[in-house]
Amino acid sequence: MDGSVVRVGVLGCGTVGASLVALVDRQNATIHARTGLSLEISRIAVRDVSRSRPISVESAVVTSDAMAVATDPSIDVIVEVMGGISPARELLLAALGAGKPVITANKALLAAHGSELFAAAEAAGVDLLFEAAVAGGIPFIRPLRESLLAEPVLRVMGIMNGTTNYILTRMSEAGADYSDALAEAQSLGYAEADPTADVEGHDAAAKIAIVASIAFGAEVTGADVECEGISKITSDDIAFAKRHDFAIKLLAIAERFSGPNGDELSARVHPCLVPNAHPLAAVRDSFNAVFVQGEAVGDLMFYGRGAGGDPTASAVLGDLVDAAVNLQSGAHASLGAFVPMAIRPSGQLEAAWYLSLRVDDRSGVLAAIAGVFGEHGVSIDSMEQHSLSGPDDAANEARIDLIIHPASQSDVRSTLDALGVLDSVRSIGSTIRVLIEADR
Ligand code: NAP
Ligand code: HSE
Repeated sequence: MDGSVVRVGVLGCGTVGASLVALVDRQNATIHARTGLSLEISRIAVRDVSRSRPISVESAVVTSDAMAVATDPSIDVIVEVMGGISPARELLLAALGAGKPVITANKALLAAHGSELFAAAEAAGVDLLFEAAVAGGIPFIRPLRESLLAEPVLRVMGIMNGTTNYILTRMSEAGADYSDALAEAQSLGYAEADPTADVEGHDAAAKIAIVASIAFGAEVTGADVECEGISKITSDDIAFAKRHDFAIKLLAIAERFSGPNGDELSARVHPCLVPNAHPLAAVRDSFNAVFVQGEAVGDLMFYGRGAGGDPTASAVLGDLVDAAVNLQSGAHASLGAFVPMAIRPSGQLEAAWYLSLRVDDRSGVLAAIAGVFGEHGVSIDSMEQHSLSGPDDAANEARIDLIIHPASQSDVRSTLDALGVLDSVRSIGSTIRVLIEADR
């Protein structure tokens, strides 16, 4: 580092990278006034140097040789906003190996290779900061790793994907079609390069793996997270939720339980019917929110823009200033050692469920269905039936929507298996968990 100027190499200049470059330009005088340091975006690596970008930088700054940027001896700090696993992993290991602090927004990379990268940062004695990787612009990681370091956290539950929250909001409030709402989210810069990562829950799974690791001091990877997305949510589900005063949200949940052989954890992503009275139900559009429950602190909620260029760049810039200040003082942030923690098998997790069945509309069917629930010890909370046949229709089909009281996932699965082989059950449709008072 040469005096008060911190030279920054940026890997990637898409939605987030371009917003970051513009934000640094806008805020540099303030950063200098508050820290005595100035940031200089010295080099930018992209895939295609000929592509036009919404920022003005000298052409000599932009290169397609990302490794040359990551290892350039004149660069003080590396920001990675390119995404993907490779070559991002190799580039960050090279930058850390060369003693450079790294800031990344790449949750997929951290969820898969976090321990390797944190070990490399620790060995080099430099920062590896990642505020933007979880919940976009919400400053949540720093409070979790610093203010809540000693808090016995019981559960973290949140809406951590802006794309899916945008889609669900548009479907629920404007009756929008799923694919149109996804296309809008893509055009607004919320979605991942491959939006399957958003809609199938993989993006939120990567985020909750990172959150679980920090909240519980345990090594959790994306592979430990049970994951279900929103692509099977139907307009009937949305209508049911609205009739019964719920909002459907994609929740990412990390929970700690006391087990007979020590603590166990669960990390999962799935759609959920959230009562409209719960604060998470009011989180609309691309907004994210994270609800933390601690033994000592009680309930906390963090809310803000979870996706988009400017909000995400804000989180990256906060980390960048932190890393620059630490670089000058010779300090660095550390996550400490993670302990092994068993994953509680999903079959043992208890939840209330909404279940939707297509059945024959004739006498005795309801009794047969109720009998199956009874045989498996699963208790029905409420039920409604809609005939799907017109007056002259011979199909005689009905839809039965039920909410069941909390039951173990294995009991719910075996109930559904038994229902599936009843002659009168034509198909099992949606099966979505319901957040209840006891979950709060
Ligand atoms: P993006 O718009 O697709 O931009 C990716 C950038 O990386 C592009 O400039 C691309 O170059 C460059 N790039 C990709 N592969 C490269 C390679 N091999 N060598 C050099 N440059 C390469 O992505 P984004 O939305 O900004 O997201 C970036 C990261 O931030 C991802 O990890 C994402 O998960 C994370 N993130 C995004 C958001 C969001 O709202 N978008 C929010 C939080 C976190 P070209 O421009 O030449 O193609
Ligand atoms: N694709 C992500 C989302 C970007 O929609 O939330 C923020 O991580």
